[in-house]
Amino acid sequence: MYKIDMLKGLPKTKRDIAKRGESKTPEIIRIAREYGEEFFDGDRKYGYGGYRYDGRWIPVAKDIVEHYKLKAGDRVLDIGCAKGFLLKDLLQVCPGLIVEGIDVSEYAIEHVEPEVKDFVRVQNATDLSEYSDGYFAAVLAINTIHNLPKEQLLATLKEIQRISSGNAYVQVDSYLTPEGKELFESWVLTAEYHDYPDGWIELFKKAGYTGGYNWTIV
Ligand SMILES: C[S@@+](CC[C@H](N)C(=O)[O-])C[C@H]1O[C@@H](n2cnc3c(N)ncnc32)[C@H](O)[C@@H]1O
Repeated sequence: MYKIDMLKGLPKTKRDIAKRGESKTPEIIRIAREYGEEFFDGDRKYGYGGYRYDGRWIPVAKDIVEHYKLKAGDRVLDIGCAKGFLLKDLLQVCPGLIVEGIDVSEYAIEHVEPEVKDFVRVQNATDLSEYSDGYFAAVLAINTIHNLPKEQLLATLKEIQRISSGNAYVQVDSYLTPEGKELFESWVLTAEYHDYPDGWIELFKKAGYTGGYNWTIV
C-alpha cells in the first residue's frame, strides 16, 4: 500500500465550505444521497452544483496510464464513474483500452459522455463478485467508497484488491486535525465513513489492500 496523488493534474478548485455548512439539513443530505439530478446538476447545496465535462481529467488519465503502464487491450474499471469523464479521457489518452464504469446513480449513467455509454452501467460498488481475480489491469475508486458504511466499505476494499491484484487507486475523505474534522463534518453530505489518515490506513491493512491511496481534505 502506498500514498500517491493521482489527482495532482486536476485544477485546484476553491470550495465554499462555510456556505454549505450553514445550509445543511437532513432533507438536503437525503436528496444528495439519492445521487440524482440535484446532486450532480442542481443547486450547490445538494452537491456539485453542475457536473460538466471540460477535459480536466486528461492530465489525470495520462498519469494513470503511465503509473499502471496501461496499454491497448488492458482492462480498467472506474467505480463511481459518474458521467464517465475519466473513462472518456482514459480512452483518449490510451486508445484501445477496455474501460468499464459502474455507478449507483441512474441519473449519472443516463447522462454519461456518449463516447463511453456502452461501457458503463448502474451497479453498486458493493457488487464486484462477477469479476475474476486480477481481471483488471487497474481499478479506480475516486471519492466513492467512503459513501459506504464501514463494513461494506471493508468488504468492497477486499474485492477491489482481489480483482485488481493491488493495481488500484482509492481516494477517500479525510482530515488532519480536530478543526479539520469539525469543518469536514459541517460540510459533508454523502460520506458514510470517514477518518483520520491513520484510521484509514488501519482499514486498508485490515482489507489486505496493497494499492495506491490518497485523501480528499476539505
Ligand atoms: C463524489 S462523486 C465522484 C465521481 C467521480 N469518481 C469523480 O471523482 O468525479 C461520488 C460518485 O460515487 C457514486 N456512488 C456513491 N455510492 C456508490 C455506490 N455504493 N456504488 C457505486 N457508486 C456510488 C455517486 O453516484 C457519484 O457518482
